[in-house]
Amino acid sequence: MSDARRKRLRENILPLALRTVPPPVFDPCCGGRMCYFDKHDSRVLFSDIRREEHTLCDGRVFAVSPDAIADFRALPYADASFSLVLFDPPHLERCGPRSWQAQKYGKLGKAWRDDLSAGFGECWRVLKPLGTLIFKWSEIQITIKEALACFPQRPIFGHTTTTNLRTHWMTFFKDGE
Ligand SMILES: C[S@@+](CC[C@H](N)C(=O)[O-])C[C@H]1O[C@@H](n2cnc3c(N)ncnc32)[C@H](O)[C@@H]1O
Repeated sequence: MSDARRKRLRENILPLALRTVPPPVFDPCCGGRMCYFDKHDSRVLFSDIRREEHTLCDGRVFAVSPDAIADFRALPYADASFSLVLFDPPHLERCGPRSWQAQKYGKLGKAWRDDLSAGFGECWRVLKPLGTLIFKWSEIQITIKEALACFPQRPIFGHTTTTNLRTHWMTFFKDGE
């Protein structure tokens, strides 16, 4: 191979090919990335159903700016694509559509049980065998028990008590297949 051809391959073709490999971590409802220590962590594919910008009541700008737009109930990724998935769907059923909570966290629809179930199913499908799925839930209007009842899998560990806390992080582990 000539030097010029090798140079062209290194500079043009390899980066393109590498970009088609998805990062190892997937967040299908990333919102404003508030739970991230690094909001631009290159190991994460940030996805959400919306791209929006709002000025909150305290004057700060809140942006939902995902890498990809997708519905977690029908994800456009192949089976077994990611090693780690964070599923942090909306947790409020009752809030004004223009309220700051809806702007920040989104809002559940009437069919929220079906939506959570479909979302979990899709997150599980795109998770690799021996991968981990983290489910985050704020127990404000709907209990963690009700939310977990939407899923066919049981978490391996997480908060086992609901005393004095509202935010739950549950860990699901996918067996090798
Ligand atoms: C609780 S917030 C996520 C907060 C986020 N983890 C953070 O750290 O800021 C839930 C997000 O789910 C998104 N969402 C709601 N329905 C969705 C759907 N069907 N598919 C994908 N994202 C959805 C909302 O737009 C909202 O940004």
